Amino acid sequence: MRFKYVCSDCGHEFTSPDIVYQCPVCAGTNPPGTFARGNLSVIYDPDDLKSAAQREVVDFRDFFPYPVVQAEAYPVGNTPLVRPAALSRKYGARNLWLKLDSALPSGSFKDRASQLVAAQAVFFGEKRIALASTGNAGAAMSCAGAAYGLDIILFVPQSAPVNKLMQSVLYGATVVPVKGTYDDAFALSIEYTRRFGGINRNTAYNPMTIEGKKSVSIELFAQMGRKVPDIVYVPVGDGCIIAGVYKGFYDLYSAGVIDRIPALVCCQSSGSDAISRAFESGSFDDIPAATTRADSISVESPANGRMAVRCIRESGGHTCVVTDEEIFAAQLELASEAGVFVEPAAACAWAGFVKDRTCTSVTPPGPEPSACVLLTGTGFKDMKAFDGRISIPPAIDNSVQAMIRRFS
Ligand SMILES: Cc1ncc(COP(=O)(O)O)c(C=O)c1O
Repeated sequence: MRFKYVCSDCGHEFTSPDIVYQCPVCAGTNPPGTFARGNLSVIYDPDDLKSAAQREVVDFRDFFPYPVVQAEAYPVGNTPLVRPAALSRKYGARNLWLKLDSALPSGSFKDRASQLVAAQAVFFGEKRIALASTGNAGAAMSCAGAAYGLDIILFVPQSAPVNKLMQSVLYGATVVPVKGTYDDAFALSIEYTRRFGGINRNTAYNPMTIEGKKSVSIELFAQMGRKVPDIVYVPVGDGCIIAGVYKGFYDLYSAGVIDRIPALVCCQSSGSDAISRAFESGSFDDIPAATTRADSISVESPANGRMAVRCIRESGGHTCVVTDEEIFAAQLELASEAGVFVEPAAACAWAGFVKDRTCTSVTPPGPEPSACVLLTGTGFKDMKAFDGRISIPPAIDNSVQAMIRRFS
């Protein structure tokens, strides 16, 4: 695919045969404490997009700038699309779909970005990839590294959930816990690649992360019979997933195979809602400290905030801020009423759907809109989230009398 880079902030356009991270004109020009500038979009030749979209079998990899070699070594994509019968009835939503990206190889949506960054490394003959992560991106990149024989250097805040860190250690990554925040780990990982080389996979900093994440929208188009949902609910922290979701629909729109981009709903916790605030106020300054327990969407200064705000607006979408209590209730509801077990960050998207559904009294005229809720990470990632909320019942004696007592 022929492509160019376009800065999502200043509009600067250029092509490059090399690995490119940020806009050479405006990145780094904004003061600290505001949303970063200079993230790049990858824009394709429309004819190349058309030919990818018109193939009989639509494969998102045909929309990538680099070939994915040995896709079956790290099988990313084709995740289940669930029709949750009981929840559809409960909320009167006949056209409801849950996209289970918790079923990806490392258990989260982040495998989508890691697949393309691994392809980028193979294309450029690079063996080493460094990144910062709150957990899931690191686990995904480490998983890809194990599958493709790449060295992964992972900087994480030392507070990241132990399950996610253990995953990365098990996959064989070099894990570097940092006594600091995710932002500190982010800065250190960039300094690492400056000094020691390799590819940097930081979310949004490397434009291929957004490109990889767009695969979910193209996959939805293929799975739904060359159609897309009317509304997509996305859990948001840094704003990279939602920009990827937008980009996939944008590419399909540019290829002429869909006539509108679905409305994107940005779902955030009230304990980390910088992008929602910026969407409402138009201001990218004065970011409040993040306090949410949903660690994957706990973000102080969103790495892709500006682009995310624009994507929500251009899609005709809106924001939906929920409390951590609503997120935990949503997590339990999905598990007990749909058999879908996700981590708190993913449950935030379901909490957003529930809030929209229960707070909106006006039903739009015409056929009921179809809604897809992106469930981005498995519940096994963070079992500590249940401490004090769910407990395993005490054991009974191994006797018939004890069993009868238990049930009478
Ligand atoms: C499971 C899960 N859901 C949602 C998100 C939010 O994605 P983003 O930070 O790109 O907005 C993340 C990010 O780490 C995640 O791991």
